[in-house]
This record gives sequence, structure tokens and C-alpha cells, in this order.
Amino acid sequence: MEKKTILVTGGAGYIGSHVARQLGEAGENVVVLDDLSAGFADAVLYGELVVGDSGDRELVSRLLSDHGIDTVMHFAAHLVVPESVENPLKYYGNNTCNTRNLLQCCQESGVKNFIFSSTAATYGIPAGGVATEESPAAPINPYGTSKLMSEWMLRDLSSASDLKHVILRYFNVAGSDPEGRIGQSTPNATLLIKVACETATGKRDSIKIFGTDYPTADGTGVRDYIHVEDLARAHLDALAYLRRGGESTLVNCGYGHGYSVREVLDAVQRVSGKPLNIIEQPRRAGDPPQLVANAERIHKLFGWKPRYDDLEFIVKTSLDWEKKLNSRSRS
Ligand code: UFG
Repeated sequence: MEKKTILVTGGAGYIGSHVARQLGEAGENVVVLDDLSAGFADAVLYGELVVGDSGDRELVSRLLSDHGIDTVMHFAAHLVVPESVENPLKYYGNNTCNTRNLLQCCQESGVKNFIFSSTAATYGIPAGGVATEESPAAPINPYGTSKLMSEWMLRDLSSASDLKHVILRYFNVAGSDPEGRIGQSTPNATLLIKVACETATGKRDSIKIFGTDYPTADGTGVRDYIHVEDLARAHLDALAYLRRGGESTLVNCGYGHGYSVREVLDAVQRVSGKPLNIIEQPRRAGDPPQLVANAERIHKLFGWKPRYDDLEFIVKTSLDWEKKLNSRSRS
């Protein structure tokens, strides 16, 4: 049988580029669609890069039919939580309305499998700080809501058609390609590990801890940090699951245990050998004290085997990428 092609929207971005690379390495045919608003052309290591918008129905329909696409992996989205609070329609437009258009094209062209990049932000503040896939969805910002609305459209379309889907709810993604080819290049980063590595490499003077009075062991926020390489692997496992006839499903992507902000900063100091200038601040609005995955389903359903459940390795690959970015900007 002729090999089908996989469309990766947002495949020039941080997570999408790692997935596109793993797909290419596994011998899959890949086409990347990315408007390069947050992605980088040189992060696309496999397959053709088409520069455009995943909500552009004419373009997407043409791509689906020209390339014989039977699987779509949809990453293209805005993802800065505070920005979503200030400008919600930007998020509902790009994340929700564009997903609706993309789904219409998939329906019209008979795409079989849809793998959707969702977020633990759909849980809001889960009771006890641990979310199972059955925990109520109660997002506390427009970013989480924009993703949840897309999940609902996808679920309803799958019920009404032959489309099968996997929704992956990511916890806190960090790290970079262990071989140093790609990584997180987002300017004006806000994510803890990225900001801490920028501080360790001298790009920033200091790092702030947002809140030291949480009801956690050391008073700082706890998150489930997952290496981008293991997260990318979960997408290939999700595809294998659908190809062997698996039913549509939703799974958490995390390791099932968390680290506090202080533990992360300690790891960055250990791995980099540099003391960080740490400033303690009041809590940041909208942060849950703890957000950790119950990760049983992804293991059971997909046989997912994470390789990098190791905070120091996550930090090391982030730091290596940061050094590479710094040397590039100097040259
Ligand atoms: N933090 C700091 N200082 C910083 C940055 C973060 O103390 O400079 C703290 C936060 O308060 C939080 C923890 O570090 O306790 C992690 O914060 P991040 O900003 O790295 O990540 P979030 O948990 O806020 O959010 C991330 C993604 C969202 C996603 C969410 C799901 O940004 O897109 O994980 O868990 F929805």
C-alpha cells in the first residue's frame, strides 16, 4: 500500500519540530504547515515546509489532496497564558476558529486520524493538584478554554464521522533535542526552565520565584516537567495506536510526579555550575499551587516508555540549547 503523508501544523515550532523530526527519522512522509509567526524554518529537519495558516481552508484543502494526507497532527496555536487573558479573541481566533476550519477540511477530504496538541491548562486548578483524564475540565484562562473548545469540536466530529482522534494534554514541556539540532527558540520566554537557563547563561540578570507561600513542601509551585523528546514520542505512539484500530481518546502527557520551583532552580544551578540571582516575589495571578498528571492511561493505552524522566537531563538539554542560541547570536 502506498505510504500516506502526515500533515504537521505548527511543525516549525518548539514541540511540532521535535515531532516532525521523530516522524522523519521513523521513515514517515511529513509535510509541515507553519505561518512562521512563532516557528523557525530551520527547525524543520524533515519534509516540505509550506508557509501558511492552518485556518486557510483553500490552502489546507489543497495540501490534503495534493499530498494524500490521512493523518493530521495539529500544533499550530498561540500559547502565552497572560497574553490570552489580555487578548482573548486572538486566542479564540487562532486556536479555536482555525481548528474548526482545519477540521472542516479534514472532514471534506476524508482524513482518518487527527492528533491534537492540548494542554493541562484545560484542568484549571484540579482538586489535590493531580489531574486524571476524568478530572473536570475547568480552565481558568482563555488559552485553556480555546484548547478545550477545540477538543469538544474534535470529539463531536469524531462521533459524527469516521475520523479518529487522540487528544494529548501536555503538562510542562521542557528540554530539547539531545543531539542539539533543535530546541526552544521563543523570544521573550516566560516558562520557568527556559528563563532559568537564560539566567544561567547570562542573558538575564536574575530569575523571580512567583510565590513562596503555597501549600507545598517548600512553599513554591509544583509542576510535572516532561522532556520534549518523550512528549514527541507520545505522538508517534498515539499514531501507532490509531493505526492499530484504537478508539478516539484523550490522554495526559506527564511523568506523574512534580518538582517545585526551588527544586528546578537548584537543578539549574547544579547542572550549570552557576549560582543564580533569585528574587522572591508574590504569587503570579492564575497559577495553581500544584499541577501534576496522573499518567496511567498513556502507559496502559500506548505502551509509552519515557526515556528522559530526569530533571537534570531536562535542564542539561535546555542549557545546551541556550548556549547554542547565545553563540549563534554572537556570531
Ligand atoms: N515560575 C517562576 N518564575 C518564572 C516562571 C515561572 O517562579 O520566571 C513558576 C510559576 O509560578 C509556576 C512554575 O514556575 O509555579 C511553572 O511556570 P511556567 O510559566 O513555566 O509554566 P505554567 O505551569 O504556568 O504553564 C505551562 C504552560 C501553559 C500550560 C501549562 C499547563 O505555559 O501553556 O504549563 O500546565 F497550559
